[in-house]
Amino acid sequence: MNHKSSTDPVRRAAEIWRTRGTGELLRRAAARLTRLVFKSNSAVWYGRELRGAGPSAVAATLRAPVESGVGAAPERRGSGVTGDFAVADPLELGRWLRRDDGLAWAADERELDVAAGCGHRWTSWSLGGRTVAFCKVGGGRVFIVDFDRAFDLPDGIAYLSDVYVMSQMRRKGIGRALLAETLRFLRSDSFVGVVCHIPRRNVASAGLFGSLGFSPLGEVRFTRVLGIQFYSTRPERLLEKMSSRCGPPAGLSGARPGGGPGGGALAEDGPGRGAG
Ligand SMILES: CC(C)(COP(=O)(O)OP(=O)(O)OC[C@H]1O[C@@H](n2cnc3c(N)ncnc32)[C@H](O)[C@@H]1OP(=O)(O)O)[C@@H](O)C(=O)NCCC(=O)NCCS
Repeated sequence: MNHKSSTDPVRRAAEIWRTRGTGELLRRAAARLTRLVFKSNSAVWYGRELRGAGPSAVAATLRAPVESGVGAAPERRGSGVTGDFAVADPLELGRWLRRDDGLAWAADERELDVAAGCGHRWTSWSLGGRTVAFCKVGGGRVFIVDFDRAFDLPDGIAYLSDVYVMSQMRRKGIGRALLAETLRFLRSDSFVGVVCHIPRRNVASAGLFGSLGFSPLGEVRFTRVLGIQFYSTRPERLLEKMSSRCGPPAGLSGARPGGGPGGGALAEDGPGRGAG
């Protein structure tokens, strides 16, 4: 499947109809229509500077190795958690997500389009060759599904979302290991800061990000009624707040999207390999 066919809404609808039936197609269409009429959510935005103490200092807090139970014994990383960190082409990862009914929600075609267009590299963690966790991250421009729109990010600031660990593999230190490696990867591409947002009810995620040095920037409550949007605080304000906290990236080129330090494209020779 090429990029065009995987993100074209009509083809996507046809694919859902063919593989999951009319009932599922109608259910999704109704859900989308409802969201167009009314949508609301709220989340606390967090940021972490990438200068100063590096993720290696963070990785020292990782727990005992996990049991993979899937194929050959994986490499044990310096962090103490077994498995492999990898960087992934968002479209590759998107195709993989769509193959799993339980994960298809994470393959939003609009998000994939922007990520691919900006040369983002998402990250993943695998055990015995099987992907058990992933994380979406990128700079330059990012599509945020919660608001159904794309945002330009300040230079040197990355946005991170949907850190996800397969349910049977949780509480083994994988989420923290994946994030620690992701932060290291961002730093190697000259990003100076990273932001994410977490709904208040997601205690697990708040604990995870807090333990990695993320601190709150502010809360955004979002409501959209019949296409008119209301924000308690505009996300752009929090992005600017993070940017002024971090300062400009070293060797700023101003290129956007992709290319240039912290401009979106992650170095080809970064750690790890493509997601399997
Ligand atoms: C959030 C998530 C990624 C954590 O991954 P994980 O591999 O289980 O996390 P780790 O084992 O590395 O735990 C790291 C820290 O996260 C926090 N944490 C993880 N699970 C938690 C839970 N169920 N309750 C409270 N805190 C939790 C703890 O602070 C933990 O550190 P500790 O064990 O030293 O106390 C995982 O629960 C998940 O995929 N959830 C569903 C998707 C999601 O909500 N993603 C976040 C979107 S904002």
